[in-house]
Amino acid sequence: MNNIISEDQKKSKEWLKDVSIRTAKRADLEKLEWEGEYIRFRNIYLEVFQRSRKGLAQMWVVDLEGFGLIGQAFVQFYPKKRFDSQGEKQGYIHAFRVREQYRGAGIGTILMKHIEKTLIEKGINEVTLNVAKDNRGALLLYKNLGYKLVGETSGRWWYHDHMNKIQEVVEPSWRLIKQLH
Ligand SMILES: CC(C)(COP(=O)(O)OP(=O)(O)OC[C@H]1O[C@@H](n2cnc3c(N)ncnc32)[C@H](O)[C@@H]1OP(=O)(O)O)[C@@H](O)C(=O)NCCC(=O)NCCS
Repeated sequence: MNNIISEDQKKSKEWLKDVSIRTAKRADLEKLEWEGEYIRFRNIYLEVFQRSRKGLAQMWVVDLEGFGLIGQAFVQFYPKKRFDSQGEKQGYIHAFRVREQYRGAGIGTILMKHIEKTLIEKGINEVTLNVAKDNRGALLLYKNLGYKLVGETSGRWWYHDHMNKIQEVVEPSWRLIKQLH
């Protein structure tokens, strides 16, 4: 995949018309490793994909024609309320990212709006997510989309990396919620 875009191309935003958002396919999982940058999440990607096959999760990718995948976000569906929820059916958004050279063009916002629309169609009435306390950019994006800060979390979790080694993550985070209508 050639994912290099020139500064001029980026500024023109002409490329936005070639962007599509779709559900991830099995063959996308490797591409989501972003040439090794996220290889450590291989097992997580597979697990979410398998959950998506059972209707328990959904994986979205942003596909730029001629370039490849430039963004992603996953949602876990929880039948009953979890976290500090008021809602009955909740979606938990995670693994939301846009490739660095494509940031700041509105892709992240477009993807979040697309996800919210799909969730509403599925009857999900609330979405929640965690954002690292030092991630001011993402926090601003969520606030602009109407997410409300409802609490905080230690952000401590574990996963098995691609070598099946346990990795611990500690990322003190804010917990945000948005009611969908
Ligand atoms: C967060 C992220 C997905 C946003 O994607 P994006 O395509 O750049 O988002 P948008 O272009 O729609 O940004 C919309 C607004 O969000 C805010 N914003 C997003 N990222 C920002 C940053 N790094 N610094 C400052 N503001 C930021 C701005 O208000 C921006 O509006 P502006 O461009 O008019 O200033 C992207 O920055 C990213 O992948 N970051 C690394 C991974 C990450 O932090 N994911 C979120 C985990 S909770």
